[in-house]
Amino acid sequence: STLATIPQPPAVPLVGNIFDIDPETPLNSFYSLAKEYGEIYKLVFFGRETIIVNSRKLAAEVCDERRFHKSVRKNTLEEVRCLTGDGLFTAYHGEENWGIAHRVLSPAFGPASILGMFDDMYDILSQLVLKWERFGPKHAIDPADDFTRLAFDTIAYCAMSYRLNSFYTEGTNPFVEAMGSFLTEAGSRVRRPGLVQRMMSSTNAKYAEDQRVMLDLAREIVEERKRNPNDRKDLLNAMLNGKDAQTGKSLSDTSIMQQMITFLIAGHETTSGFLSFFMYYVIKYPAVYSRLQAEIDTVLGTEKISREHLSKLPYMVAVMREVMRLKSTILGFAVEAPQDEVIGGRFFVKKETSVFVMACNVHRDPEVWGDDVEEFRPERMLDGKFEALPPKAWMPFGNGQRSCLGRSFVWQEASMAIATLFQRFDFRACDPSYELKIKQTLTIKTQGFKFFAIPRKDRT
Ligand code: HEM
Repeated sequence: STLATIPQPPAVPLVGNIFDIDPETPLNSFYSLAKEYGEIYKLVFFGRETIIVNSRKLAAEVCDERRFHKSVRKNTLEEVRCLTGDGLFTAYHGEENWGIAHRVLSPAFGPASILGMFDDMYDILSQLVLKWERFGPKHAIDPADDFTRLAFDTIAYCAMSYRLNSFYTEGTNPFVEAMGSFLTEAGSRVRRPGLVQRMMSSTNAKYAEDQRVMLDLAREIVEERKRNPNDRKDLLNAMLNGKDAQTGKSLSDTSIMQQMITFLIAGHETTSGFLSFFMYYVIKYPAVYSRLQAEIDTVLGTEKISREHLSKLPYMVAVMREVMRLKSTILGFAVEAPQDEVIGGRFFVKKETSVFVMACNVHRDPEVWGDDVEEFRPERMLDGKFEALPPKAWMPFGNGQRSCLGRSFVWQEASMAIATLFQRFDFRACDPSYELKIKQTLTIKTQGFKFFAIPRKDRT
């Protein structure tokens, strides 16, 4: 059979396709490039080629772990390695420490262990509820701020029993601030030539300082636990006390610090972005709002949320899935093949070339989702329809062995938050004419979206 050329937008000498990507919001460029080029195209930055895959069918092929595996080469993740090293998220395929950490930590991230974190999650959630009740119905809430506090405090408390107390801090926590600017810079570095980078001395100094702030907190937490050991079943104890059965090895202190920073990075922006988009869509669609609140009222009534409630909210689950379809807070993930490959029967993929699975566009593949892909319609995910989707149609959590380890964690955390918030408050957009704007770093979140949380007197 004959091979087809993978299309590429016209490139500029030397820098390649750099001007095809909006530096503020790359997502917008990825949407429009997909409209123009379809299921596959390539981009070249300073001579480095990346293939981008937008359709469910091609995604399913490159998600075949017998042919492709996660790629950390020449992308933002490789940049982040200067901070998190061979930690779970940024480990190269096949690195020994990934296997050790994966085996030591998988049970601790499993659904049963996460259920064990229910009370700790509720502890942090109740601080959010209390804050919004005290603020009252006329206070404009920016969900990106308060959900970041929720997500951040929850992961720090559940993972290492460490209270960040962000709800008692005005402004941005120094760790969150450092992480935000570190991740933005890590993303920019990928598109910058080395010579330019070396000349940006103040940017480089800030980059190093941001890393120091994060490592200092991680070190403080590990040292504090070693001075005062306890028997809590948190992730830190799992790492300090766990031994990998396969190799007999444990994680080093440096590795534990890198994993903790990984959880804090992976666990707070993604979660808060997701919850912000959830609020945006539900408030925008009154029919969804009413049905969601009715389900929560029927199941919870005036009771405090319990473990048993979690499995009785199918409509809420469908809304969550639909929000993740339209707005996966991680746009996608990179894979590569150790040998030359042909995908789709006609596209040649040279070995070790990065192939980016653009989940945000796979989630808009009309072959799977129909002509109304942009419509927010939770019914797509109801009554067995989600289970009947073709493979790899819905991938907000990535693929295979390198998919999200925190999936059960965030699912429970978000479910508890959503059910409790809609039980206790009515929500109204501050500006009913607000048009969705997105702020993009390594993840995406709402920008400028605000709402009022009106306590429901009969529910408290
Ligand atoms: C990996 C999404 C929350 C921990 C991933 C990947 C995705 C993802 C797409 C794969 C990345 C790749 O292939 O390069 C999300 C989303 C979240 C979320 C959308 C929230 C809505 C969390 C939380 C934690 C977490 C709360 C920790 C508590 C991890 C870890 C990995 C990972 C450790 C690396 C797994 C490995 O390679 O072994 N996540 N995540 N994530 N996530 Fe999440």
